[in-house]
Amino acid sequence: MKREMIIVLDFGGQYNQLIARRVRECNVYCEVHPYNIGLDKIKEMEPKGIIFTGGPNSVYGEDSPRCSKEIFDLGIPVLGICYGSQLMSYLLGGTVKTAPVSEFGHTEVQVEPSAKLFQEVSPETVCWMSHTDYIETVPEGFRITGHTLVCPVAAMECEARNLYAVQFHPEVAHTKEGMKMLSNFVYNVCGCVGDWKMDSFVESSIKEIREKVGTGRVLCALSGGVDSSVAAVLLSKAVGKQLTCVFVDHGLLRKNEGDEVEAVFGPEGHYDLNFIRVNAQDRFYAKLAGVEEPEAKRKIIGEEFIRVFEEEAKKIGSVDFLVQGTIYPDVIESGLGKSAVIKSHHNVGGLPDCVDFKEIIEPLRLLFKDEVRRAGLELGIPEYLVYRQPFPGPGLGVRIIGEVTAEKVKIVQEADAIYREEIVKAGVDKSLGQYFAALTNMRSVGCMGDGRTYDYAIALRAVLTSDFMTAESAELPWEVLGKVTNRIVNEVKGINRVLYDCTGKPPATIEFE
Ligand code: XMP
Repeated sequence: MKREMIIVLDFGGQYNQLIARRVRECNVYCEVHPYNIGLDKIKEMEPKGIIFTGGPNSVYGEDSPRCSKEIFDLGIPVLGICYGSQLMSYLLGGTVKTAPVSEFGHTEVQVEPSAKLFQEVSPETVCWMSHTDYIETVPEGFRITGHTLVCPVAAMECEARNLYAVQFHPEVAHTKEGMKMLSNFVYNVCGCVGDWKMDSFVESSIKEIREKVGTGRVLCALSGGVDSSVAAVLLSKAVGKQLTCVFVDHGLLRKNEGDEVEAVFGPEGHYDLNFIRVNAQDRFYAKLAGVEEPEAKRKIIGEEFIRVFEEEAKKIGSVDFLVQGTIYPDVIESGLGKSAVIKSHHNVGGLPDCVDFKEIIEPLRLLFKDEVRRAGLELGIPEYLVYRQPFPGPGLGVRIIGEVTAEKVKIVQEADAIYREEIVKAGVDKSLGQYFAALTNMRSVGCMGDGRTYDYAIALRAVLTSDFMTAESAELPWEVLGKVTNRIVNEVKGINRVLYDCTGKPPATIEFE
C-alpha cells in the first residue's frame, strides 16, 4: 500500500524542515522539495497535500521564487504559509503590498471558527508573525478567515478549490494552536489517515532491507553515536549474521567511551553485530603530530578513518552493501543548501567509495533526528544511548586547540568526565543541548600549595539549542561551575585554570574547531 504524503515546497524560508517535522508529528509522512520541482514530478509523487513555505522575498521581486499557477488546478489541497500565502494570492489575482506596519513576534489573531483550518481553535489565538508585506485583497472565490489589528488578511481560504493560506507561522511553537491548524489541514482538508508511525517504519524497513540484501554481505561503520547505532541494529534485525560492524577507536573518544560502545554492541552485548573493534589510537596520534590547523586536523582524521576502515574491509573480503547513517536533514541540505562551508564535517558513516561494494544502504535517509531516536527505542536500544548528546566525528581532535597529543587527550578526557558527571548530578543535563570540556592551547601561571604552576586552561561549554544551527550559552548555576572547577584543578594533572565559554552561535560555533 502506498504511504500517504504531504510535500513542502521550499521558497527559502527558515522553517522548511520544521514544517515537515510538524506534519510528521501528526503521523503523516512529509518531504521537502525545491519550489521549482515542476508539476510533473509533483503529480508523480501523488501527494495528499502541498504546503508552500515562507521566504525572505517579496512576490513582486524580479528574482523571487515562484511556481506555476497551474499547481492550484491539480486538485491537490494547498496551504500557503507567510510568503507562500502571499504567492497564492498574487498568482490567483489578489493583491499583495508592503504593510504600513510590519508584524514580528507574538500577535493576537482573530480567526473564523467555521474555517476548516481553525476547527477547534480559539477565536482569538496567539500566532507568530514575521512579515513586511501582506495580502491586501484576496483573489476571487476566497474569503478572509483571520485578521489582526493591522493585517486585514491573516488567513484566507477557498474551500471549493481546497486552497488555504495563513500569514503567520503555524509550525513554530510560539503559535499556540499551530499544531491543531496543521493537523486540521492534513486530516480535515487533505483527508489523511496518519500512517506514518515509527513501529511501522521499523517493520517495513526490515522487510525492504531483507528483500534488497537477499543473501548478500553488509558492512557498517559503527561509531556508537545515535545514527550509526540505530542503522546497525536495524540492519542486524533484518539480515542477522550477514552484517559486520566495524568500530574504529581513533583515540579521540570521551573517557571510557570505546569500552562502553564495545560493552553494548560487542560480543558480550545485547546485539549480534559481528562487531570488530579496531584500536587505531597510535596511528591517529602519529598522523596528527605537529598539526595545528583545525581544517587540516579534520581532514587527517577523516582520511585516516577511511584508511583504517578500508584495511578492515579488505580483511573481511568483498561485501555487497555498505551502510551509511545519512539522515533526512543531510538529504535536504545537500539537495537544497547553498551555505558556506564553515567546517568540513566528518561523519564516520560518510565513507567514499574506497571499499569494494555494490550498493549503499541508507536506512535512515527519510528520518529526522527525533524520528531516528524513536526508531532506536522501537528497536530496543537503551534510552541512554538513544538520547546521547551529539559528538563530532573527529571527536576530541576538535576539542583540543592546536596540536593533538596523547597527553592532551588524557587531560581533556578527565576534565570532560568530571564536568559531565557533575552536570548530571546537579540534574541540569536534560535542559542542555550539548555540554563538554575543551582544552585551550593556553598555559598560564598559577599557584598550588606553595609552588608555582604553568599549566593549561580548560574551557567548559554548555549550550541551549534544539537544531544545533544556532545556540545560546547556558547559564549554569554558579555552585555547579564552582564544584566542577574545584574538582578539575584538584584531580586533573596539567590544568590550573577553568574558563566558561559565554559565547553563542553565531558568532562562535558550538565546537571549538
Ligand atoms: P558546530 O561546531 O558546527 O557544531 O557549531 C554543530 C553540531 O555539529 C556537531 N559537529 C559534528 N558532527 N561531525 C559530526 O558528526 C563533525 O565533524 C562535527 N563537527 C561538529 C557538533 O558537536 C554540534 O552538535
